[in-house]
Order: sequence, then structure tokens, then C-alpha cells
Amino acid sequence: MRDFVTINEVGPRDGLQSQGKTLTLEQRLNMIEALLQTGIRTVEMGSFVSPKAVPQMAGTGELFAHLPLRDQVAYSALIPNLKGYQLARQAGVESVAVVLSATETMNQRNINMSLARTTEVCAELMQQARADGVNARAYVAVAFECPFEGVTPVQVVHELTQRMLDAGADKVIIADTIGAANPAAVQQVLQPLSRWCESDQISCHFHDTRGMGLANVLASLQCGVREFDSSIGGLGGCPFSPGATGNLATEDLVLMLDSMGYRTGIEPLALVEAVQRVQQLTGSQLGGHSFRWLERQWNKQQESRHV
Ligand code: COA
Ligand code: ZN
Repeated sequence: MRDFVTINEVGPRDGLQSQGKTLTLEQRLNMIEALLQTGIRTVEMGSFVSPKAVPQMAGTGELFAHLPLRDQVAYSALIPNLKGYQLARQAGVESVAVVLSATETMNQRNINMSLARTTEVCAELMQQARADGVNARAYVAVAFECPFEGVTPVQVVHELTQRMLDAGADKVIIADTIGAANPAAVQQVLQPLSRWCESDQISCHFHDTRGMGLANVLASLQCGVREFDSSIGGLGGCPFSPGATGNLATEDLVLMLDSMGYRTGIEPLALVEAVQRVQQLTGSQLGGHSFRWLERQWNKQQESRHV
């Protein structure tokens, strides 16, 4: 039996934040319910950010209050600053993720702070969360390439990762925000990390902008990573990062891992209905590389059930 790989579904946050259409809280809840039907048990359900900056994420506290299966699902929220942390805690959220971009310009554009200041704030938030018994994770965003500054130096990514782990982060998520990574670059970043981190301290977040999402997952698996972010139907992008189109699709990731013998707790064919539901809710055409094939298998399964 191969290892278990944790899939952190980020569609309700990374996916929805860049949609032209803002979903109602009921529709966001509906989306999460559809995701849970597939066996998904780790969900980034929203963010506590300025509703002026990202209106799609307004009301995340209220959303959280209505989420089902709270004792069985690891729900987390993205926070950009202390205010976000406080709002998340007031809502009862027990797992937070800060976002630290690896370049100066990206921090400015995303959260209006310098890299040095963001690093301090994130480190303080990691310490605070640790002291409060809250699960604390840190995204290192634009870890491979920045849309404003070009290729990100590997050393910077390593330093920021170390800083967040030293501050008490349970996990650092190496994020390819604009989908510019390739398997060689992934290994360059992850191989040294695998020597000085525990495998459960690192997770990866890929976008499939250039079609290399799964290749990058394979390279990460070879470096010992056993947790990945993905988004149902490939929904996603980043509103502050030009060119950041779809996230790695959950159905592609689950299907590949399942085919390779890894366990994920998620039924690949069950993802078809979740993609269809999110298509209806967002009005966007969705689906990863494998979606048409999965849909055909799912249709056959439905027909055989009705014979
Ligand atoms: N949640 C909700 N509101 C927040 C907030 C948070 N975490 N942080 C600040 N605010 C509010 C302030 O109360 C203030 O409100 P007011 O205008 O009614 O007085 C307003 O936002 C501006 O506050 P300020 O501290 O000056 O922030 P800013 O204008 O420098 O913006 C962020 C900084 C971080 C709040 C904003 O850039 C942001 O929310 N970015 C989101 C980034 C994001 O989600 N990116 C995608 C994911 S990586
Ligand atoms: Zn992303």
C-alpha cells in the first residue's frame, strides 16, 4: 500500500476569489457541500481579507458558522494580517494560513506591505497562532517566478521557509502562484528542503497555467512531499497576479495519485458531480485535463446503475 497524500481543496478560496461573479454565502456553502460528497476532508474555505480588495470573500465568518461536519473536516482560512487573524478567531476558525510572497513587488501589490514587514507580521502571526493552539501554515507565494520581478531566487524561498518554521509554522506551502514552475525548478527548491524539514512540514500549491501542474506534483512526490493544494475543475487564479490562470485541478491530481496507488480518501469519479455543480454555481466552463474522460466513465457508471 502506497502512502496517503492529503489534498487541500482551495477552490472555495483561491478559486472563487478571482471569479468575475461573486457567489452568495449560500452558493459558497453549496459548493463546499458538493466537495465534501467526494470524500474531500481538508478545505481552505475562504479568507479574512479586506472586502474592498476581494469582495468575493466577504462574509467568510458567517460562512464558517454554517459549514457542515466541523469535527471531521479540517477547514482553514487565509489571513493577510493581524486583523484577519482576529476576525478568523472570532469566527471560531482553528486553522489559518498567512501569505508571504517571496518578492518585494508581489507583497506590495497583494497586501500593501514590504517584504520585510510582511515577513515580520507573518512570523508574529505564526507565533501567536502557536500560542493559541491554532494550526498555523504559511504560504510562500511566487516561489518560482513573480509576474513583476521574474525568476525567484531559490535561496530566498529557503530563507523564508526557514523563518516561518522557526516562528512556529506547522507547515509551509510552496506556492507557484502563476504556474511558472517546471519539474527541475521544483526539485531545486524541494530537494534541499527535504534534507532539513520533516516531510509533513512542506506542502505544494501549483497552478496549471503552462500545463506542467502534474509533472510538478510528480517531482514533489519524488522529494517526499505528501500534501498538495488543488482546486475543483481547475477554478482559480489570483486577482493581484497577472497571468495566474487556473489552479491544478483536483480531479487531475486525485486521478493521477489514485492511478499510482496513493491513497487520498477521495473517489475520482465522485469529483465529476462536484465539477458540474461548481460550473453551475460560477457560470464558468471548468474541468482539468482528465475531466472529459472522467465524465464519460461517470456516465457509464450511471447508466449501468439504471439498467
Ligand atoms: N479583513 C477585513 N478588513 C480588513 C483587513 C482584514 N484582514 N485588514 C484590513 N482591513 C480593513 C481595515 O479595517 C480598513 O477598513 P476601513 O477602510 O473601513 O477603515 C481597510 O481594510 C484598510 O486597512 P489597511 O490596514 O490600511 O489595509 P490596506 O488598505 O493596506 O490593505 C489588506 C491591506 C491586506 C487588508 C488588503 O490588501 C487585502 O485584503 N488584500 C487581500 C489580498 C488577497 O486576498 N490576495 C489573494 C490571496 S493571496
Ligand atoms: Zn494559487
